Amino acid sequence: MKMGFEYIKGHLCCDGIRIDGVAEKIGTPFYLYSKEAIVGNFTSYKEAFSEVSPLICYAAKANANIAIFKLLAKLGSGCDVCSQGELFLAKRGGIPSKKIVFNGNGKTEADIKMAIKEKVFLIIADSIDELFLIDSIAKEKINVGIRINPGIEPKTHPYVATGLEKSKFGITMASLNNAISIIRKMENINFICLSFHIGSQITELSPFVESAKKLVSFAKEIGEIKYIDIGGGLGIPYNNENFPGISSFAKEIVPIVKDFKLIIEPGRSIVGNSACLVTRVLYLKETKAKRFIIVDAAMNDLIRPALYNSFHRILPGELREQEEIVADIVGPICEDGDFLARERKINQASLSDILCIMDAGTYSFSMSSNYNGRARCPEVMVIDKKPCVIRKRETFKDLIRNQLIPDGL
Ligand code: LLP
Repeated sequence: MKMGFEYIKGHLCCDGIRIDGVAEKIGTPFYLYSKEAIVGNFTSYKEAFSEVSPLICYAAKANANIAIFKLLAKLGSGCDVCSQGELFLAKRGGIPSKKIVFNGNGKTEADIKMAIKEKVFLIIADSIDELFLIDSIAKEKINVGIRINPGIEPKTHPYVATGLEKSKFGITMASLNNAISIIRKMENINFICLSFHIGSQITELSPFVESAKKLVSFAKEIGEIKYIDIGGGLGIPYNNENFPGISSFAKEIVPIVKDFKLIIEPGRSIVGNSACLVTRVLYLKETKAKRFIIVDAAMNDLIRPALYNSFHRILPGELREQEEIVADIVGPICEDGDFLARERKINQASLSDILCIMDAGTYSFSMSSNYNGRARCPEVMVIDKKPCVIRKRETFKDLIRNQLIPDGL
């Protein structure tokens, strides 16, 4: 059996079991995860970088389901967290504190206090002001790194290009010497790491290589650095593009960082291809201008197409001889931004067909919402050929859980 998603006898399967069968049981829409894909992706990182035994800190924001944390913890993963909530979830999922790095450009006092209380391995400071705050809160020496903004073009969507000089993240090269002289005088800071994260869905190696070289040469100059953190991982192919794989990523990076301990924070490349959003066709509509396939999943379940114009392949649950059409695949939400694909060449669907929106393991459920009063959908993972619910479908009760009607209304 191949891990992940493949057609078996004309039916799309996840880790060997038919997706339409799971849909009958669970109801649509829902996210379906391949445990094998996650294990395979994490193992690829571990093996590719084995020469330097890195601390792999899975980026919690990619998908913060505690069952996924549990699986990754068992494989030896740590976590990159950027909020108290993510820290709480990572710990609940069994990620040990000594493998957690706390990132973020706007940490509050409460964030830093929790990070210290939970004894995370490393706090990565994003600004000089934050260094002062950490030093004032810490009562004893704690491990701190600084995030450098290397000013490098990552060639990705502008919303997720985080290492440009104009971006809000990190300390720029120009302020670095000042930051180092300040940090060295701080009593409660054990300055051990230089870090960068230049963006996400990066599909070329050169921006990583350039940034790593900049950091390493700076780290060698200043002396006290033990760890180099190269931020998130590689981008993934959403449309069968030919991208460098994890092993070529490692081949380029390892020789540059080999004199240091390496931290990597991959998110997308660990869970991205591990799931699809399973939806059912509700209606078909044809106007003079367009054809529409209206499905029961919507932008509240998967906002990436609407927000970044992202492409996700859409595969039928069952392969049938059908005419190829060009259609918009849209949800039931009351705005035109509610699309999962636009002008997509796709086989004509029939009412009640299952469609699977692929590569939806990352920044998908984690960015979902209750917009339009829609309960968030369940997450299911195939474990040993069984579909196991790892998050229940929300109910109406969940929709009003934190709402109050004060007296007088
Ligand atoms: N480390 C830091 C500090 C990060 O900010 C991120 C992602 C990562 C690691 C993980 O990067 P990855 O390996 O996943 O590329 N919502 C957007 C992506 C935002 C990424 C934010 N930071 C999307 O749907 O494409």
